[in-house]
Amino acid sequence: MSIRIIGTGSYVPEKILTNDDLSELVDTSDEWITQRVGVKQRHVSVNETTADLAVKAAQRAVEAAGITADELDLIVTATVSADSLCPSTAALVQAAIGAKCPAFDVSSACSGFLFALDTAAAFVARGGIRHALVIGAERLSRIVNWTDRSTCVIFGDGAGAAVVAPGDNYLVSHLFTQGNDDVISIPAGPGNSPFYEREEPARQINMKGQETFKFAVRRIADDIRLVTAKAGITPEQLKYIVPHQANSRIIDLAARKLGVPMEKFRLNIDRYGNTSSASVAISLDELVRSGELQPGDLIALCAFGGGLSSAACVIRW
Ligand code: ACO
Repeated sequence: MSIRIIGTGSYVPEKILTNDDLSELVDTSDEWITQRVGVKQRHVSVNETTADLAVKAAQRAVEAAGITADELDLIVTATVSADSLCPSTAALVQAAIGAKCPAFDVSSACSGFLFALDTAAAFVARGGIRHALVIGAERLSRIVNWTDRSTCVIFGDGAGAAVVAPGDNYLVSHLFTQGNDDVISIPAGPGNSPFYEREEPARQINMKGQETFKFAVRRIADDIRLVTAKAGITPEQLKYIVPHQANSRIIDLAARKLGVPMEKFRLNIDRYGNTSSASVAISLDELVRSGELQPGDLIALCAFGGGLSSAACVIRW
């Protein structure tokens, strides 16, 4: 299509919250969380904002790309836990890293990084962009309901980023939205209007776990089939699939549905939990830095989440 990834980076805050730590906050156990979700620990911020996390991941991606921030022509950040609605997280990153280009945020929950990547690809295809910086960054600990054991055990904080340039390695992409605020929602929070008569719920993550679970398994399988078919390959030809890390059982069932071995899926949920928009970007960075990718390798990225939304793409490395 229109881009190639020339550098990646990621960052998680230092503080680690183990399952045992969580069992002191809510009625849960390491055994339940490990078996039902696959998370052993997650990182949580104690003094860094969402933008701080994004900046550190961005700087690592820019360095890996071998460019300087003033060579960026676009910054797109995906987040559902921005510090402020204005300025955007992307604008805060732009200022912090010393870039001078247009910068804006997109919101598509856990699919956000792939929506942002596709947005950057469209801008590059339009022309005039030498390098675009795409970021997924979340401080979900800010908006988790820490009294709800069915959600607070899942999420973590972190950020991942990629620098893209014009190229032909982004072979196929697919974005999907099925508007629904009943399964997953993060309300904006109470407003100030003295005139508005309806209740405005708190800003926190609400999720119907089992419905999300079924949606996720179906979307991963359908989206991977769709993008591989469009790319003229089979899922077996993919060296790796980098999925959104929400629940290791979701990946296991999707792998069975697709008929591909679980080993193709890159998993790090045990260390980070679900970092929403940052999740695929962090895993991609770990894969790139592992040195396991060779030029010409085919990989797929896929994600699903609030919106409801899902996305997938095929990349030739
Ligand atoms: N510890 C111990 N017990 C728990 C916990 C916990 N942390 N959480 C729930 N339980 C209990 C429930 O109370 C219930 O008990 P009961 O049978 O006595 O009523 C039992 O465990 C089973 O509960 P379920 O909700 O059916 O548990 P499930 O196996 O579905 O796991 C989970 C819940 C982990 C949320 C799972 O449904 C899931 O992973 N869903 C998908 C989440 C996801 O993919 N999110 C991504 C999008 S998020 C976004 O976009 C921002």
